[in-house]
This record gives sequence, structure tokens and C-alpha cells, in this order.
Amino acid sequence: MINLIIFILIISNLILFFLINKKKIKNFFYKSKISTVSVSELNKIFETQKIDNKIYGPKKDVIIKSFCISPENKIVGMTSNYEAWIIGCLSKVSKNIFEFGTCSGKSTYIMALNSKDDSKIITLTLNPKKIDKISNKKGDNKISYRNMIDESIYNKFLFSGSNEEKKIKVIFQNSVNFDETKYKGFFDLIFIDGGHTYNIVKNDTRKAFYMLNNKGIILWHDYVSGKTSSKDVVKFINEIAKKKKIFRIKNTSLCFFKNII
Ligand SMILES: C[S@@+](CC[C@H](N)C(=O)[O-])C[C@H]1O[C@@H](n2cnc3c(N)ncnc32)[C@H](O)[C@@H]1O
Repeated sequence: MINLIIFILIISNLILFFLINKKKIKNFFYKSKISTVSVSELNKIFETQKIDNKIYGPKKDVIIKSFCISPENKIVGMTSNYEAWIIGCLSKVSKNIFEFGTCSGKSTYIMALNSKDDSKIITLTLNPKKIDKISNKKGDNKISYRNMIDESIYNKFLFSGSNEEKKIKVIFQNSVNFDETKYKGFFDLIFIDGGHTYNIVKNDTRKAFYMLNNKGIILWHDYVSGKTSSKDVVKFINEIAKKKKIFRIKNTSLCFFKNII
């Protein structure tokens, strides 16, 4: 009897320990294996200028056109405003831009608002009417798969009807079937924020490297260690970072690769 009580106490203590330290245990298994750097490592435009000993401010190149979406406007799957600002600043110095994952079009609209008039933006998204044809591959994270379905609901976007829409080409297609071969070395900026399952991130990354020009930048969204829906993104980026110089930007879930370091 005493043995049984001791056994139950040990098990309940172990369960309690697991519940209290759940986040730390998860972080241990999915921890970041890449270095975190300041946003100014991404591009010199992000370097601040000294106004006074106590205050540093933005340079002209990082003043952008932007907007916020209020929480009442229940839009799903967006980048944070700080991440959107980084994307907006890079768009000012990028002519040809490619995006995996349009969703509401928040990031696409920021790109279009800030890029030059002759810029072109291609954005790829799943067709809400054909979403039942998408299946999960073996080993893919089920929560990422569910999010992929839940975020594929928009036929019209935040930029629909705006002046900037003329710069944007939306392609409703599964990125697995997207033919990248006509865009070899073409894009200055590629944002990977489509499906977050291992197989989709791998597919999108392979195509992004092929389409990137020799001064280009690739950004990945949702590199968050310990977050279940980002598990596959973290796993894949940790793997590829063994071969490519990839960094995480401080205070964001963005990672980047740039062709000229
Ligand atoms: C996280 S949202 C993108 C958010 C957007 N970049 C923003 O910041 O406003 C993900 C988008 O990726 C798209 N997507 C998911 N899997 C895809 C796939 N295999 N091919 C193309 N698009 C995909 C979804 O349809 C959805 O529009």
C-alpha cells in the first residue's frame, strides 16, 4: 500500500513539474539554433541617428506609409506592426518582390504602398474555393495544417480597389505547383509566409533561393521557438541554417538571408 502511495506521489510530482515547466521543456527541444541580430544588420537603412545622448531616431529611409488593423476587425494571420514596418522599409529599396502567403494582404499592401511606382509584387495564396483539395503530408505539424486552412479565406484583400493594386499580381495556387523556373535570379525581396508545415516551408524556401537575385533578401515569418504552430518553421530553418547564413531579427519572428553580407 505504502509503495502505491509513493508511486502515485512520484507520478503526480512529475506531472506537476512538467506542467509548471512546459514552456522551458518545449524551448529545450525546439530552441533557436541561429543567432539573433539587430535589424540594422539586415540593411544600413535601419541604423538610427543620434538626436541627443538619450535619444536616437529613425533616418529618412525608414519613414514609411503604413496602417494598423484594429483588433475589432478580426483579420487572421498578420505580421506584427514592427515586422510590417521592416518589410515596408525593405520594399522602398526593392523593385521586384515575391510573397508566399497573401492572407488578408496586409504585408502585400505595405510592400505596394512603399515600393517605387514601377515595382512589381507577386503574391501567392491558396484558393479558398479549392481548399478541400489540400492535404497534409506525413510528418507535417497538424496545427500548422489547420492554420493553413483557416487563413485561406480571402478572395478580396486589404489593397483591393486601391491605387497600389496595379503593382500587385495575386496568384491563387498551391506553392507546391508553382513554377519558379521563369523567375531564376529575378527577385530583390522574397517573403516566405505561406503554409507553415515542414514540407511547404521546405518547398517555398527551395524556390525562393532559386528566384533570388545576387543582391536579394529572403525573409521568413514565424520563427518562434516553443510555439506549436511554428514548430515546423523552426525545425526547417534550424536545418537549413547549417548550410546558409540565416539570422533572426531581434524582437521579431522574422529570419533573413541576404546574398551579400
Ligand atoms: C500567415 S498567412 C499570410 C499573412 C500575410 N503574409 C500577412 O502578413 O498579411 C498564410 C497565407 O499563406 C497561404 N498558403 C498556405 N499554404 C499555402 C500553399 N501551399 N501555397 C500557397 N499559399 C499558401 C494561405 O492561403 C494564407 O493566405
